[in-house]
Amino acid sequence: MDARVLAQVLRRLPPIEDPNVLVGTSTADDAGVYKLTDEIAIVQTVDFFTPIVDDPRTFGAIAAANALSDIYAMGARPVSALAIAAFPEEGLDADVLAEILAGGADKAREAGISVIGGHTIKDPEPKYGLAVTGVVHPQKIWRNSAARPGDVLLLTKPLGTGILTTARKRDLIGDDVLAPAVVSMLQLNRTAADVAAQAPPHAATDITGFGLLGHLHEMTSGSEVGATIDSRTVPVFGRALELARDGAAPAGSVTNLDAAIGSGWIFADSVAPEMRLVLCDAQTSGGLLLAVAPENAETLVDALRAAGVHAASRIGQITSDRTLRVN
Ligand code: CO
Ligand code: CO
Repeated sequence: MDARVLAQVLRRLPPIEDPNVLVGTSTADDAGVYKLTDEIAIVQTVDFFTPIVDDPRTFGAIAAANALSDIYAMGARPVSALAIAAFPEEGLDADVLAEILAGGADKAREAGISVIGGHTIKDPEPKYGLAVTGVVHPQKIWRNSAARPGDVLLLTKPLGTGILTTARKRDLIGDDVLAPAVVSMLQLNRTAADVAAQAPPHAATDITGFGLLGHLHEMTSGSEVGATIDSRTVPVFGRALELARDGAAPAGSVTNLDAAIGSGWIFADSVAPEMRLVLCDAQTSGGLLLAVAPENAETLVDALRAAGVHAASRIGQITSDRTLRVN
């Protein structure tokens, strides 16, 4: 949904008063966190969406990696998952659903967990995802609301999955151009989170539907800080800029750009229109965005790359004034 509409709707919910709710709906965090004991809190998140690639097994695996990502973005470890699926009664055969579920189960296994149940409904448009439960020490939660001025912003995957998958659906590109984005969407954020845990970030989130600038705005507003992005350092998939320039950006990314401007993002004149779209492109199973102490940034980027998170890059910094700027 449009972030602005969602914010209005959430404001109308009653406040949460349970003291064991460590992270609820008052911040735009990636998952809810509930303290069970002084040592253990459970982390809960749910995510599902319509197919973004043709191959059902790949779609299932991407949807699972995407759902698991919110657990990693909280500094937590997943323990179990439930599947949620919508499927047409007619016209699609059960083998397709079986493949989607198998793709999800494969990815869950890679994450070291099992899909232990789920729920299905009939719907003309197929949808699939997971509700994931994780655990974290209550003192070690990575919130998105604790970034500090001077923190360096790191991004662990390139941007452009929304543009590339939309262009593929419109037959503007072939599977070969989409392939790097598929590999990236299939990659769990587990390794990135494990490496980052060596010098825990002050704030973390993952880049999904609201795009980089939308999710960074959630972080800066929750943390009461500003941010500056150096767009030349942001990793982007090949052809995504060109496709955005030619009008292939999905409607959601165009909406995100409107929302970003509305929430105060200012672009230097040198930032091309297509780059502005890429920075707001709705991502599926995007990377982690980490706000880390400046003295740890260099080492962390090197460690991430050495661990196979090849796109890990330093893309900007947190500032004390509340301005949001892209250079
Ligand atoms: Co998230
Ligand atoms: Co989510």
